[in-house]
Formats: sequence, structure tokens, C-alpha cells
Amino acid sequence: MNVLFGNQKGGVGKSTLCILLANYLSLLHKEECLILDMDFQSSIRWLWEKDRANYDNAPLYEVLVIELEKFNEVKDQIRNVHGHVLIDLPGKMDDNQLIPVYQSADLVICPFAYDKITFESTLTFAQVVQHLNKQATITFIPNRLKAGVRYDIKTQVINILSRFGEVIPELADKVAYQRLDTVSIPEEVVEALQYSFEPLYEKYLKRPS
Ligand SMILES: Nc1ncnc2c1ncn2[C@@H]1O[C@H](COP(=O)(O)OP(=O)(O)OP(=O)(O)O)[C@@H](O)[C@H]1O
Ligand SMILES: [Mg+2]
Repeated sequence: MNVLFGNQKGGVGKSTLCILLANYLSLLHKEECLILDMDFQSSIRWLWEKDRANYDNAPLYEVLVIELEKFNEVKDQIRNVHGHVLIDLPGKMDDNQLIPVYQSADLVICPFAYDKITFESTLTFAQVVQHLNKQATITFIPNRLKAGVRYDIKTQVINILSRFGEVIPELADKVAYQRLDTVSIPEEVVEALQYSFEPLYEKYLKRPS
């Protein structure tokens, strides 16, 4: 299954959630994963290489850097990958080379925040993806929620985004999510991650046994 992490807005947590989900699926559900790092900064590949140098244990999954213009060359091959292919996208949409990537998605995970600007970008992203790929399941994960903050537009945003797909339980803003690696899940966030990722896994990612 091809799982795309995207949003028109930068910095919403696409790469963070991509790593967390890959770790979660590999460690808690023994699912095979492959990450395609399609962001210009190759931040996931960079972290993965650092972990290869720091840890002796075998990697949980491979991370391949694929440039946007090369996607067409690999899109058939990744269909044959056993397990989940998690694709981390850049925070932009103004490139026609993204079209085949959107069209290859089975599941889209779109992290977002409850502020007006992020909501508008998220809505545009959902509209474009839905237009280009009618088969894909779109999901939204509210990310970096701060305790004690009242998000005025929350109900309204959930109502609108729900027309495109499911809004998954939120992830809080936690320092632990900033100290990620590609080999483990920080102890203090396992429970919180299960709250968000387990419904996602059960509904959309679990393979029939
Ligand atoms: N739940 C969270 N709690 C705390 N920090 C977070 C959380 N999610 C993401 N961050 C931090 O927010 C910043 C942006 O996250 P990330 O790089 O994952 O976003 P992105 O959408 O991939 O950005 P880009 O568009 O630049 O690729 C990072 O410093 C990351 O550590
Ligand atoms: Mg990123």
C-alpha cells in the first residue's frame, strides 16, 4: 500500500509522522515498510544514515531518496514491494511532477493544525488530491496541539475536512517528537501514538490475515 504524507503547508509534521508511523508499524505490528524520501532536504534519509552510524542493530526499514522527476521510473516497482511504502513529500504543490505521486496513493495522511492559514492550505491540498485521485482514502491528523489552548475554529474545520476524509485523533505538541530516530519509539509517547495510529492501522493499513 502506498501511503503519502502531504500538505500544501510546510512544517506541519509530514516527515515527523512518516518516521513515527514507519517505526510504529515496524515495531508494534511487525509490518514491513519502505520510506521514499521525496523532500528536497532528504531529512529522513539523513537521520536514517546517522542512525546507521550510531546503532549496530539492523535498520527497521530502508529509506530511499527519490527525486520528483524520477518517480515515474519507480512507480511500478513500488507496487511490487511487500509491505507499506511511506512517501514523504515536500510542503508545496506547485509542481506538475507531483501529479503521478498523488495518483499513486492508496492512503493520504495529511497533518495539519487548527489555525486559519494551515486550514486553508490543508483544504486546497485535499481538493487537489481528491480531484486527481478519486480512489485514495484521505485522512487528516491534527498535529502539535497544545494543552490549555482553545482552538476556536476546530469544530468548523473538522466538519469541512470530514467531507474529504476522516479526521484522526490528534497528536499533542511534545518535545519527544522532536528527538526522533529511525529505530525506536520514545517510551513516553507510545500510548499517545497508539491513540492516533491504532485507528489508522486498524481501518486502513492492516492487511487481511
Ligand atoms: N507533535 C509534535 N510535537 C513537537 N514538535 C513537533 C511535532 N510534530 C512536528 N514537530 C516539529 O515541527 C517541525 C516541523 O516538523 P516536520 O519537519 O515533520 O514538518 P514537515 O511538514 O515535514 O516540514 P517540511 O514541509 O519542511 O518538510 C520539526 O522541528 C518537528 O520536530
Ligand atoms: Mg518534511
